[in-house]
Amino acid sequence: MNEKVSLIASSLMQQPVSVTRKMAASLPRLRQLATEKGLKIHHLGAGYPHPEVTDPRGFLEHKTRYFAHLAAASGINNPDDIPEYLRESYAYTDTLGPVSVRENFAKVYGADWKVHMNPDHLLPTVGASGGINLMCSLFERPGVEIAYITDAPTYAGFIARAQLADQTRIYSVEMDEQGPIVDSLKRQIDTARADGRLVPFYYTVPDGHNPAGFSFSKKRREEILEVMREYGVLIVEDAPYVYISYAKEQDRPQPFFAMDSGVTVHLFTGSKIGFPGPRVGFLYTEATVEISRAEVINLSNLLLTESSADILFHNPEALYGFEAILHDENMELRHSLWPVADEKLKVYRENREIILDGLEDGLGAYPERFSWTIPESGFFTVFRFHDRNIASDDAFVEQLVSEFGIVVIPMYDFYPEDARQRNPRAGLDELRLSFCFSESYGKARRQDLAEAVSAFCDAVLTLTGIDK
Ligand SMILES: Cc1ncc(COP(=O)(O)O)c(C=O)c1O
Repeated sequence: MNEKVSLIASSLMQQPVSVTRKMAASLPRLRQLATEKGLKIHHLGAGYPHPEVTDPRGFLEHKTRYFAHLAAASGINNPDDIPEYLRESYAYTDTLGPVSVRENFAKVYGADWKVHMNPDHLLPTVGASGGINLMCSLFERPGVEIAYITDAPTYAGFIARAQLADQTRIYSVEMDEQGPIVDSLKRQIDTARADGRLVPFYYTVPDGHNPAGFSFSKKRREEILEVMREYGVLIVEDAPYVYISYAKEQDRPQPFFAMDSGVTVHLFTGSKIGFPGPRVGFLYTEATVEISRAEVINLSNLLLTESSADILFHNPEALYGFEAILHDENMELRHSLWPVADEKLKVYRENREIILDGLEDGLGAYPERFSWTIPESGFFTVFRFHDRNIASDDAFVEQLVSEFGIVVIPMYDFYPEDARQRNPRAGLDELRLSFCFSESYGKARRQDLAEAVSAFCDAVLTLTGIDK
C-alpha cells in the first residue's frame, strides 16, 4: 500500500457502528435460524415508511401531470422551446433552489402551522439528515471545542453525525414523560460552558420522538424555549413526524419554529409526508447571529454559504417533484398538507391502534412489570421492563429473533455515551417497537402486525418467567 495514503488513513478514527446497523448486519443469520425452526418473522424493528403508502407510481403520474401543467402555464407555443421548469431541472441552479418551490412550500407549511414563513429563509437540504449535517458543519468549521446538547435517548443519525468531528462532545439530558428535564438542560449547558465549549444548539425531535416514542407537552416546549432564550442557545428541531400525528387537530402541539422562529432551526423533510428517495428537505430559521461586535447577520445566510460549499445545489427536478405534492389533482396549490398526511395516516393510525391494543391485551394485566409509551405522533412506542433483572441488550434482542422470530431494536445505543456513564443501565430496560413497516398490505398487514404484537407479548411473558 502507498505509505502516504496509509499514514493519512491511520489518522482517521474508526467510527463506532450503530446498533441498527449491527442488527441489520446480523439479521440474515438470525432470520435463517428462526426460519429453520419454522418461525414466522415479525417486523417491529424497521423505522421505514410503509410500502402501502409509499408506492411511487401514483406520485409519478401526478408529477407528470404537474410538469405538463407547468409547461402549459409557461405559454410556450413553439414546440422547440424548452419550458423553464424543464431547463432548470437539468441545469445548475442556485443553492436556494427554484424560487417557486420555496414560495409555495412557505405558503402551505406556514398555513398549516399558522405562521408567516419568509421563503428567503428556507434552504433546501438533503432530507433532515442534510439539515443536521449543515448545522454541525457550520459550527464545527472554526475548529473550536463544541458541545452539542441533546436528549437521552436521541436520534441515532444525530449521534453518528456528531461523532464525526473530533472537537465535539455530546452533553445529553434525561427526559421525563413531558420532554427533557429543564433543570438538567440548564445544568448541561452550564457544564459544557464551564468545560470551555461553545454550545451552539440543542438538537431534539419534539414530535414523535425517535427513538423515545412520545411528543413533548406544550408546557415543556414553552419552558425549553425560555431556557434557550435565556442562555442564547438555538434549538435544532428535527421534525420528520409532525404530519404523522394521531392527535386531534385542536390538540396538536405547535412545533418550536411556530412558537419562536428566532431561536429555532426547523428541519422539515419530505421523507415521511412524501418519499425518502428524492431526499427533499428544507431548513427554516429566522435566527440571527452576532459574528462580531458590530455585525449581526441572519443564520440562514451563513448556512447558505455553508451549503453552497457543501452540496452546491439540491437536485432541482426532485424539488419540482416535491412542488407537485404541494398541488392537488386540479393543479391548484393546496391550502394544507394535512390531506396528503391523512392518506398516510390511514395506515399508521390503524397500525398504532393494533400495536397499542395488542400490548394492552397481552401485557396490560402486568402494569407493575411492563409499560410502554403512547405515541401522539411518529412510528414508535418504547416498551419498558420494570424488572431490573432483565437486560434488553444485544443478546436479548438476538434471542427474540432466533427463538421467537421477533425483530425489535434495543434502546441502549440511542443513549449518548455521557448518559451511559451516568447510568450504565441506561436503555437496558427498554426496546423500541416500530409499527410503521411490514412487507404486507391491507388485511394481511393488519393480520401480520396483530400476530407480531401477540408473539412479542408471549415472548416477553416467556422470557420474564411469567406463566399465563
Ligand atoms: C428523527 C429523525 N431525523 C432524521 C431522519 C432522517 O430523515 P431524512 O430522510 O429526511 O434524512 C429520521 C428518519 O427516520 C428520523 O427519524
